[in-house]
Amino acid sequence: MPRNAQARDDSPSMTGLRKSVRIAALGDLHCTESADMLLLAGDLTDMGQPEEARVLARELSTLRVPGVAVLGNHDCESGRQEEVIHILADAGLTVLDGDACEVHGIGIAGVKGFCGGFGTHALGPWGEPTVKQFVHEAVNEALKLEASLARLRSARQVVLLHYSPIQQTVEGEPIEIYPFVGSSRLEEPIMRFPVSLVVHGHAHRGRHEGRTKNDVPVYNVSLPLLNRVFPGRPPFLVMEVAVDA
Ligand SMILES: [Fe+2]
Ligand SMILES: [Fe+2]
Repeated sequence: MPRNAQARDDSPSMTGLRKSVRIAALGDLHCTESADMLLLAGDLTDMGQPEEARVLARELSTLRVPGVAVLGNHDCESGRQEEVIHILADAGLTVLDGDACEVHGIGIAGVKGFCGGFGTHALGPWGEPTVKQFVHEAVNEALKLEASLARLRSARQVVLLHYSPIQQTVEGEPIEIYPFVGSSRLEEPIMRFPVSLVVHGHAHRGRHEGRTKNDVPVYNVSLPLLNRVFPGRPPFLVMEVAVDA
């Protein structure tokens, strides 16, 4: 699979004219420009400390294209997410948490997501209150994603997550931790909207490409994974989404 990936494009052009928007995406930086925008798929910092966010903010000061991000679990570790978001927003990054934005005609719906596992093996809301709370968190993140997709009117839509919505892109991780790297509850809203592609991080040892049940491409852009799969190449994945010119 080449580093340049294609989005699903099965809708007719309104004008007959098409151009492509090149999207660079990566995640799990724990701390460019051959693209029209940059998507950051969470774990922007290692411990969620404002000082770490300032390091990234300084790096972003050289970014010449719009940047859109979601937070990851590492960014929550210190309980200072609001400060982290504020610092990154001051640096020009749009940080999504159940909201949406439009860049170059492409709608982007973003949410961190949560864990719980996949398919028939996903954890259900049954038994102890703490288990129900855990499952509720995943359901809530899926509802936030659904609401952000519902707000978009763009012909092309991209979903930005930290946790994986499908099992395929986490395969390679120890099977024992599958329930902690994603949730197929996140796949449900993706299948209800005209999504061109999905990017996520978090699964450092997963696979870089998979597909939802309705064939939407899903890319794991975790930095350790990209460095392993594409050694010697710039540490981001470039995807093209066709938009009406
Ligand atoms: Fe990570
Ligand atoms: Fe993570």
